[in-house]
Amino acid sequence: MAETKRIIVAVTGASGAIFADCLVSGLAGAGVEVHLIVSDAGALVVGHELGRSPEELWRDKVTAVYDPADFTAPAASGSAGFVGMAVVPCTVGTLGAIARGISANLIHRAADVMLKERKKLLLAVRETPFNRVHMENMLAVNDAGAIICPPLLAFYHRPVDLRDAADHFAGRVASLMEIDVAGMPQWGFKPENP
Ligand SMILES: Cc1cc2nc3c(=O)[nH]c(=O)nc-3n(C[C@H](O)[C@H](O)[C@H](O)COP(=O)(O)O)c2cc1C
Repeated sequence: MAETKRIIVAVTGASGAIFADCLVSGLAGAGVEVHLIVSDAGALVVGHELGRSPEELWRDKVTAVYDPADFTAPAASGSAGFVGMAVVPCTVGTLGAIARGISANLIHRAADVMLKERKKLLLAVRETPFNRVHMENMLAVNDAGAIICPPLLAFYHRPVDLRDAADHFAGRVASLMEIDVAGMPQWGFKPENP
């Protein structure tokens, strides 16, 4: 029997809480163990954009929730059996901390652990426009082994609404984490898509 995958999902205070909601729902639906860390700013933005707290939205979908100040959590150690971590959405502040190895909270520390253990780390960095510091930090984490995957929408699957578009992005994140999410459309030329 296949072993259940354990993944860390971190939600920081960038705009785009809907992407986190689609990702957590998609991973839970795929039978993945989601271990959730929400930064203080992340909780604020989730409440503002989705009208509900992270707890209300996700408590029934995740395996565990960790306080971002709790450095005793499993995610703080390389010996915990996580296959990877996705930060969705990721602020440029969290990006900067990860790029420079500053473990000021559990999200930064867990990301640092992923890099040192050579595990998958995906950062859905969201800011616009980017300045030079942001771009240098993205290059630094890319070179350290992370995947930079900004939450940019695709339109080739003809999304019917924002949720549909965000679900597509979440599916791309899951597939980069090597997880199959049901319903993820795969591009293929069809008669109606000449
Ligand atoms: C409504 C709202 C939207 C925000 N959007 C972004 C954003 O898209 N990108 C970003 O880097 N910061 C954004 N911020 C600022 C971050 O939340 C702030 O820098 C915070 O300190 C980040 O902390 P964290 O990385 O620990 O979550 C936003 C803040 C608010 C209140």
